[in-house]
Amino acid sequence: MRIIIDTPEKIAEMAALRYVELLSQKPNAILGLATGSTPIGLYKELVKLNREGKLSFKDATTFNLDEYVGLEPTHDQSYRYFMNENLLSHVDVPTEKTHVPSGIDLTKAASYDSEIAAAGGIDLQLLGIGNNGHIGFNEPGTPIGSTTHLVELTQSTREANARFFGSIDDVPTQAVTMGIKTVMNAKSIILIALGKGKAETIKNTLQGEVTPEVPASILQLHPDVEVYLDHEAASLLD
Ligand code: PGA
Repeated sequence: MRIIIDTPEKIAEMAALRYVELLSQKPNAILGLATGSTPIGLYKELVKLNREGKLSFKDATTFNLDEYVGLEPTHDQSYRYFMNENLLSHVDVPTEKTHVPSGIDLTKAASYDSEIAAAGGIDLQLLGIGNNGHIGFNEPGTPIGSTTHLVELTQSTREANARFFGSIDDVPTQAVTMGIKTVMNAKSIILIALGKGKAETIKNTLQGEVTPEVPASILQLHPDVEVYLDHEAASLLD
């Protein structure tokens, strides 16, 4: 595991270079994408580089980590909407090659992992991390062998995400998420964490024991993980 500590701006630039490198070597790479506030800087950088002709997604395929149950893709808090707004509509990736789990037709969750495998498997998975150590919506206690599945969101996750909705009552109670195994199957992983609020979970993730109680701690067992932290998120590391 490689840990890089820098400013959020530098992190966005450095992480974007990973995509430049990957897509120049393998234009048809399979990208695992994430939502949340954390990747927004990176996505801005990717849009800029795409506009400048420095990287192209025209042969790439994308698979997002998760989606809220019950939100239509057109709902402004759905993760499909977020992805279109923040990245996918602004780069040259063909829409039909972009995938977000359906939060409406839950029968599709069972085939998400086989769709990923049929596409060739994820080359580079991007992750944020929840205050409770979740990756995707894999909340504490999620089995390590889990594939894409339906989850009940914890109160702490719903509270953390209430800022995007009118009130906590509007935050969906369930989501569909890639499982821990789905994430661990990616060939390479980038985790980004920004801000003081992530410091404790980052310490537990990187320097604590590997336990389902801190889902991201499993990343210690993955052979190719890069962790990008700002100084605040890294502040409790030894
Ligand atoms: P955030 O969410 O990027 O908005 O902090 C991360 C997550 O919950 O995985």
